[in-house]
Amino acid sequence: MHVTAMELENFRNFKQAKFCFDKHRTAVCGDNARGKSNLLESIYFLAIGKSGRGARDRDIVRWGSDFFSIEAVTERDSQPVPIRIAYDSRVGKKKAFLDASPLPRLSDLVGRFNAVLFSPEDVDLVLRDPPQRRRLLDILVSQCNAAYLSDLEQFRRALSQRNRLLKENSHLDPPKLMPWNAQLAELGARIVLARLEALDEIRPIAQDFYSRISATPEELGSAYRSLVKEEERARAQEILADALLDRQAEEFSLGYTLSGPHRDNLLFSLDGRSAHKFASKGQLKSVLLAWKLSEASFLESRTGYAPVLLMDDIFSELDGKRADSLLDLVASFGQVVLTSARDPDLAFGEKGYEKIQL
Ligand SMILES: Nc1ncnc2c1ncn2[C@@H]1O[C@H](COP(=O)(O)OP(=O)(O)O)[C@@H](O)[C@H]1O
Ligand SMILES: [Mg+2]
Repeated sequence: MHVTAMELENFRNFKQAKFCFDKHRTAVCGDNARGKSNLLESIYFLAIGKSGRGARDRDIVRWGSDFFSIEAVTERDSQPVPIRIAYDSRVGKKKAFLDASPLPRLSDLVGRFNAVLFSPEDVDLVLRDPPQRRRLLDILVSQCNAAYLSDLEQFRRALSQRNRLLKENSHLDPPKLMPWNAQLAELGARIVLARLEALDEIRPIAQDFYSRISATPEELGSAYRSLVKEEERARAQEILADALLDRQAEEFSLGYTLSGPHRDNLLFSLDGRSAHKFASKGQLKSVLLAWKLSEASFLESRTGYAPVLLMDDIFSELDGKRADSLLDLVASFGQVVLTSARDPDLAFGEKGYEKIQL
């Protein structure tokens, strides 16, 4: 998959801007606050229909304006696929168009154009926060499995309905929860299984990338922490159903649901010790970078298309030699768009990068 051209209007600091991207390698250069990260955010928007940095749409609209639009030409099998996303803050509506036809739901966009975003801003944010780490898995699986995203959406709806019942009816007859329990156990089991299966596949790839990127030689581990143990996955639905039944009394007093994939966690370790607790900032950065590169390999093997790799500011804090070997490593992927605030000492030209100067 490729993105070849893009036009932004009122997206962050871009009033109106057009870009062309090389099908292989583009280096976006410029001083701080020129909009390098914003540009990558806009490309990633095409993949997931929202900000990969977790920003609200209305905060993305250029200050003083009331809408933004992203218009891009993406390519799949050398066929152009135009995508447009437009948001209007006056009505709070966001729409996506594929090949000029409106998509019924924004989530229908997911999977049409795949991208992987690495951003150093995410290192603390993502790796130290359990919900964000769960999101790593959700984004990964959603991009290659449309049924997963729909399961996830249905699960969230059912969960919030069950939570409302728990909160509003402390004297509710417990059997009234049965239909919700059944639905949550069935959807929850499918979600857990898909996450486990993806993790099985990505784990050794992430380990390998970590050993190539990191300056230190630990072994990267990744584990899924859940009520459903990895080896008990065949019984996932039954385990979740039992837990939903067993803890109802407690849940009525708390007002929310205690068991299910919304409480699960992705854990990283280095030589068996929790990365979230003990790793240095540099090690955490390597963990996230290794994860993102393996996400790209995983998506390619699942979908048959290499996603666009968006690498924000990967070279900061790296010495010249490691920066150079990282450049060589990312070159083995499909299309790469990376940013750098320190171009003079990196050999972008020699390595075949087209430059966009902001
Ligand atoms: N909604 C917005 N409207 C206008 N400018 C914005 C908006 N959001 C962020 N900015 C500006 O974008 C700039 C940061 O862009 P960024 O892409 O993070 O820069 P960098 O090139 O350092 O990666 C900042 O100057 C910030 O003030
Ligand atoms: Mg930046």
